[in-house]
Amino acid sequence: MIIILSIIVVFLVIYVLFTDEIRTVKERDPAAKSALEVLLLYPGLHALVVYRVAHQLWQWKIPIVPRWLSQTARFWTGIEIHPGAVIGHNLFIDHGMGVVVGETAIIGDNVLLYQGVTLGGTGKETGKRHPTIGDNVVVGTGAKVLGNITIGGNSYIGANAVVIKDVPPNSTVVGIPGRVTKQEGQKIDSLLDHTHVNDPVMENMVRLLKRIKHLEEKTGHRSDDSDADYKI
Ligand SMILES: CC(C)(COP(=O)(O)OP(=O)(O)OC[C@H]1O[C@@H](n2cnc3c(N)ncnc32)[C@H](O)[C@@H]1OP(=O)(O)O)[C@@H](O)C(=O)NCCC(=O)NCCS
Repeated sequence: MIIILSIIVVFLVIYVLFTDEIRTVKERDPAAKSALEVLLLYPGLHALVVYRVAHQLWQWKIPIVPRWLSQTARFWTGIEIHPGAVIGHNLFIDHGMGVVVGETAIIGDNVLLYQGVTLGGTGKETGKRHPTIGDNVVVGTGAKVLGNITIGGNSYIGANAVVIKDVPPNSTVVGIPGRVTKQEGQKIDSLLDHTHVNDPVMENMVRLLKRIKHLEEKTGHRSDDSDADYKI
């Protein structure tokens, strides 16, 4: 009886302290039908609650326990948030499984992370080696944001993108490596706008097409498909 009462009290305290986060989940996930459902069944909320406790202990420089809490939460939720990470208000981690947030990651307010997101290091840096995510950013499922880079506010990171460079605010980034396809609501043609091309395969393709065109002009010979409309 005491155990059941204790569990109810714990959930009541969580409900009071995390009202905003619970409301955010209800607003952003059409599948969330009630606050009780969110409170009991959303691993993103559970991982966040444990993170808040672990982060406080981390700030008090208590050894081992914060990491142990973080690993325990990972066991139950599939979400690993390092207690050293700094997380703003209303973070929503949807579905959760496979999410990793590194020690020096900074996450702004109203951020949405889907399952499989990594906010990690490149393995080459020390010190601040994880990304800074601006306010209102959405990071799509499976996306990897790596290194001490900044994702500007109100940006969308597409599913499965691998982002290794800064992203300006109000942008959409897709692909590997991530490239900006929209900025301030305007579509960006990555073949024509060379300031935003950072896909090495695409860059080599453009170079090859230029060389073929140059050789064709020099020799006066054109291959059978030379009428193809190359965008270079
Ligand atoms: C990137 C995203 C946010 C769409 O942004 P958008 O600004 O509306 O982009 P559009 O749909 O206009 O697509 C722009 C271009 O990027 C491409 N694109 C979109 N998403 C992409 C992705 N994840 N990876 C690669 N290319 C993608 C589109 O095909 C389109 O290409 P085109 O210009 O050659 O036709 C969205 O596709 C996405 O990936 N969201 C993540 C959602 C998610 O993770 N959900 C999980 C639910 S469980």
